[in-house]
Amino acid sequence: MESQGRVDDGRPAEETDDSNQSDVSPCLRVVTSSADETQRLGFTLGRLLHPNDLILLRGPLGAGKTCMVQGIARGYGYTGRVISPSFTLANVYELPGGRPPLYHLDLWRIKNPVEALGLGLEEYLAGRGPCVIEWPEVAETVLPRDYLLVRIEPKGDTREIEICAVGERPRALLDGLRASLATTMQPGGPHAPRD
Ligand SMILES: Nc1ncnc2c1ncn2[C@@H]1O[C@H](COP(=O)(O)OP(=O)(O)OP(=O)(O)O)[C@@H](O)[C@H]1O
Ligand SMILES: [Mg+2]
Repeated sequence: MESQGRVDDGRPAEETDDSNQSDVSPCLRVVTSSADETQRLGFTLGRLLHPNDLILLRGPLGAGKTCMVQGIARGYGYTGRVISPSFTLANVYELPGGRPPLYHLDLWRIKNPVEALGLGLEEYLAGRGPCVIEWPEVAETVLPRDYLLVRIEPKGDTREIEICAVGERPRALLDGLRASLATTMQPGGPHAPRD
């Protein structure tokens, strides 16, 4: 099967550049070499999401944030089209069977935290389902304390993806991701999304 990236694991949090906080867990690093691989990584993560989970996606223009969200949404169970909500602030991906929706936010056009709050940021964060946010930097002062931070660094078609957890539940989520990747990267492991 196709891989979903090369795991470069085990860097202690203390060695990350901005991790003076005591409750930052070790980070997971994965290198992907195609959009498909990044979606597969997202798919594996999306399968593990709980209703209150928050995922922040950082990276420059075209890094692959939306690409990763496409995999996350598919893994979470949403089968529709996933596009960047940069003009609307948020897309709400409704699931059948009364399952909580996935909220996909993009703060690229937001100028400050007050503007984000005015557009309903808190309501999405307090909504029924998990939330993924592209370009979260502008609102980080008003975001919850616990989150999974995905940083994507592009180098040609390669993406160096670092995923770090802040808080107890995000640490459990990251541990689950690590375990799932160890399984799905084995030959014969479950297949990730088709498009
Ligand atoms: N390894 C890879 N992972 C993800 N995307 C890749 C990879 N290699 C190439 N790409 C390409 O990079 C682009 C990523 O676009 P995407 O919209 O996901 O970026 P983005 O970070 O959401 O950008 P924006 O900041 O504009 O929202 C796509 O065209 C995708 O095909
Ligand atoms: Mg995007």
